[in-house]
Amino acid sequence: MTEKRHLLDVDDLDREDIERVLETALSFSEVLRRPIKKVPSLRGKTVVNLFYESSTRTRMSFEVAAKRLSADVLNFTVSASSVEKGESFKDTALTLEAMGVDAVVVRHPVAGAPWLLRQWLDAAILNAGDGMHAHPTQALLDLFTLRERIGELEGRTIAYVGDVLHSRVARSGIKACRAMGMKVIAVAPPTLLPPVALEGVETGSDLDAVIPRCDAIYMLRIQKERQKEGRFPSLEEYIRLYQLNAGRLGKAKPRVVVMHPGPMNRGVEISSEVADAPYAAITAQVSAGVAVRMAVLFMLLGGAEGGEKVA
Ligand code: NCD
Repeated sequence: MTEKRHLLDVDDLDREDIERVLETALSFSEVLRRPIKKVPSLRGKTVVNLFYESSTRTRMSFEVAAKRLSADVLNFTVSASSVEKGESFKDTALTLEAMGVDAVVVRHPVAGAPWLLRQWLDAAILNAGDGMHAHPTQALLDLFTLRERIGELEGRTIAYVGDVLHSRVARSGIKACRAMGMKVIAVAPPTLLPPVALEGVETGSDLDAVIPRCDAIYMLRIQKERQKEGRFPSLEEYIRLYQLNAGRLGKAKPRVVVMHPGPMNRGVEISSEVADAPYAAITAQVSAGVAVRMAVLFMLLGGAEGGEKVA
């Protein structure tokens, strides 16, 4: 990735690039365990978080990552900005660029928005989630977490369970897992599966039949706001057929890893008992997020020209 300037989706990365991100993130995770969790790698660089959709963990994770690298961070959130006064996306972007930012971390409800920024700006663009489309740093931090928990990923099986149709986390995550040679199963009610088959992905609607085959089970948030679309008859039925709870997990492999990108709906797609169990890697995913975003920022902004060491 050293020669790359942006991170828009996982498609931009081949397996070797992904390996390099994970290795770099591993060095940064060591930095994060030190009493002083900061390195000077991006001193003098400015990163802006440009968020047109609400987010706590992703925005804070990017902010912490940039600060740990000694970059200056600006947070631009829509409600506190001149977007309320009707400024266009392009004018906002050009204004930021005129201030001399080096990287723009963008989250936008419209799929493709980060690609527009890439056309308009010279800064490095990092996609922090665009519509239902892509969320590449989430995919990378999920791979990092999986590696920590199960080691070699080639040939291992992961199931993405729930609202696959609307999930940018699943779309990027599935590509990343496939790039690492994993077997991927998408499990959901037929109405929540993508209408066009995802390449190389097995699909199914019977979670109980899939669980025993999995090394990892990735639960997706049921987007309650979309329940209005009537994509399944009732939340009660969804819970009965798709909630990951201790009873269901009884049939899983002994070392299965349970993941969730957050925010969780406890008691809907996942029971509290499962979310808080040691086999759940949900807080590990949050920690991995900081190390992986440090790696990506470092590789896009500092790695190439500076030739700097990680720590
Ligand atoms: C997800 C997102 O925003 O795409 N969360 C995240 O980035 N941690 C998933 C979701 O909202 O369900």
